[in-house]
Amino acid sequence: MATAVGNRAQIKTERMLVTVIKMRVIGRLHDQRLTIDRRRWISAALAACLAVAALAGCDVERRQSDAELGLNPQQAAGRKIYDNYCDRCHRPYSTKGKKGPGLKGLFQRQYLPLSGLPANDDRVGEIIRYGRHEMPGYSQTLNPQDLQDLLAYLHTL
Ligand code: HEC
Repeated sequence: MATAVGNRAQIKTERMLVTVIKMRVIGRLHDQRLTIDRRRWISAALAACLAVAALAGCDVERRQSDAELGLNPQQAAGRKIYDNYCDRCHRPYSTKGKKGPGLKGLFQRQYLPLSGLPANDDRVGEIIRYGRHEMPGYSQTLNPQDLQDLLAYLHTL
């Protein structure tokens, strides 16, 4: 009788031990899986960062010189004005918006994409002189010669 109880107790302890060991093993496996998951997550995050960096890198194109762009002296003078007054809001070689729309191909279309006005010197000149919505006017800053130079440059976009 006494041995039977002793045996049962022993079997119980053994079972408990086995369960404890099982739990430990499962726990360790779980931890391992977690580290693998974490590693996978980190490499995915890294890949995403790299992709974003690559895209941003593409956006920061090397600035071409006036000669590379084939600008004549008037157009080059217009480019300086553009850099001083317009570049902070408009990308010259992209249609992607900044504060204002990108101006690539400005005079290549019949109508300006945003305002729908005809894409000609008169209308664009007016927008530059008097501004539009968020855009300031430049009639006090640019003299008629500056405006002509600027328009000449805008025609090269
Ligand atoms: C403070 C930012 C800002 C500056 C600086 C700025 N613009 Fe603008 N520009 C805008 C915004 C915003 C619009 C859109 C206006 C609207 O809602 O129609 C715009 C519109 C235009 C348009 C019309 C686009 C269209 O599709 O209708 C032209 C052309 C233009 N700008 C040229 C220039 C030039 C050239 C200069 C430099 C002399 C300049 N802008 C300076 C913000 C700016």
